[in-house]
Amino acid sequence: MKRLLSLAAALLTVFAVSAADEPKIGMAGGPYLQAVGETEFTVVWATDADAVAWVEIAPDDGTHFYSCSRPKYYQTHLGIRNVGKLHAVRVTGLEPATTYRYRILYQGVAGVEKKNRLRYTSPRGSDVFRHRPYSVTTLDRNKDTVRFAMANDMHEHDTELRALFKDARTAGYDFVCFNGDMTSSIPDRQHIFRHYMSSASELFATDTPLYVARGNHELRGNCAAEFPEYFPAPEGVPYYSFRQGPVFFIVLDGGEDKPDDDIEYSGLAQYDAYRTEEAEWLKRTVESDDCRTAPIKIAICHVPPSLKGWHGSVEISQKFVPLLNGAGIDLMLSGHIHRYRLQPAGTEGRTFPVLCNPNRCRLDATVTADGIDIRITDVEGKTLHTYKTGK
Ligand SMILES: [Fe+2]
Repeated sequence: MKRLLSLAAALLTVFAVSAADEPKIGMAGGPYLQAVGETEFTVVWATDADAVAWVEIAPDDGTHFYSCSRPKYYQTHLGIRNVGKLHAVRVTGLEPATTYRYRILYQGVAGVEKKNRLRYTSPRGSDVFRHRPYSVTTLDRNKDTVRFAMANDMHEHDTELRALFKDARTAGYDFVCFNGDMTSSIPDRQHIFRHYMSSASELFATDTPLYVARGNHELRGNCAAEFPEYFPAPEGVPYYSFRQGPVFFIVLDGGEDKPDDDIEYSGLAQYDAYRTEEAEWLKRTVESDDCRTAPIKIAICHVPPSLKGWHGSVEISQKFVPLLNGAGIDLMLSGHIHRYRLQPAGTEGRTFPVLCNPNRCRLDATVTADGIDIRITDVEGKTLHTYKTGK
C-alpha cells in the first residue's frame, strides 16, 4: 500500500510539473468574420503564441454542437497547415442564404522534438457549452432589402466606435462596413485589435459580416503591409466585390492621397501603378454578369474622386470613374474629408452621386431595387443627415 501511495504521489508530481510546464496560450484578438460570400466565409483571430488553428461548423438545425463530430476547416498554404499568431480560416463549399453555427479552435506549438515532431499544448476554443455558438448567414441575392451600417475615419477613437456600434449585434444589419482610416497608421501588430477590431468582435463581428475598405492612413506604419492578413479578401487583394439582395457592391482601394514621391512616404509608395492594376480588375468586374444584372450598384471607396483635389483623388477620377460611369453605378460611398458632402450626379462628369460620410459617425443604409435610403447619426444617436434616391 505504501509503495502504491508513493507511486501515486510520484505520478501526481509528474502531472503537476507537466501541467505547470505547459506553455500558456490564449486569445489576443477576435474572432471576426471576413469575406462572407454566397458559399464561403473566413474567420480571423489572433493568439498570443504560435498555434495551429481550425474552425468547426454545424448547421443551424437545433442540435447541440456536441451532438456529433463537426467538419473541420484549416488554414493551409500549399498543403501545409499554418503555424502562427494570426489565423484566417476560410470555410468553403456552403449553401447560399443559409445560417451556419461555428466555433474556433487552436492548439499552441510548444516546441519541436526529435525527427521534427511538434509538441502541442492542449487544444482550446470558443465555448459552445455555456454559450451559444457564433453564427453566420451566407449572402442571399434573392433578398428584397439590404440593410448595412458604415463608419470611417475613426482614427483610434475607440470610445466613439463602441458608442456607434453598441447595438449592432441586434440591429438586423446584413453587414457592417469600415470605410477606411480606422487608425492613423499601423505601427505594430496589435494596433488593429487594440483600437477597433477587439471592439468590433465583442460588439458584432463574430456574427455580423464585416467588409473593410482600406484607407490611405492604413498604408502607413511599420505593419501597414500586413493589413491584408487581417482583412483577407477573396482574391488576396484589398479590393473586391460582393452581391447581397438587389445590390452589387464594389469595394475599392484608393491608395494614398499624395503623389508617390512625396516626402511622407519614404520612397516606398507605388500607388499609381497599383491603381492602374486595380483599374484592370475593375474593368473585368463591371463587365461581369453579377454586376450587369444587379438592380442597384454601390461603390465604396475611402478617398472620394475629385479632378481638382489631391493626387489620389485625381487618379481615382481618371482611372476608376470612367469604368464606374459605364457600369451605371447608383452611388459611391466615401469618407476621408471628415465632413458630410454630397456631390450629385453630373459633378465633374460623373454619372453617379458621391456621398462622403463624416468622421466618427454611423451611416445606416436600407436598399431595395427601388432605391437607397440613408441616415447618418452621431455618437449620441442624433440624426445629422438623410439622403434618399429613387430608381
Ligand atoms: Fe483618409
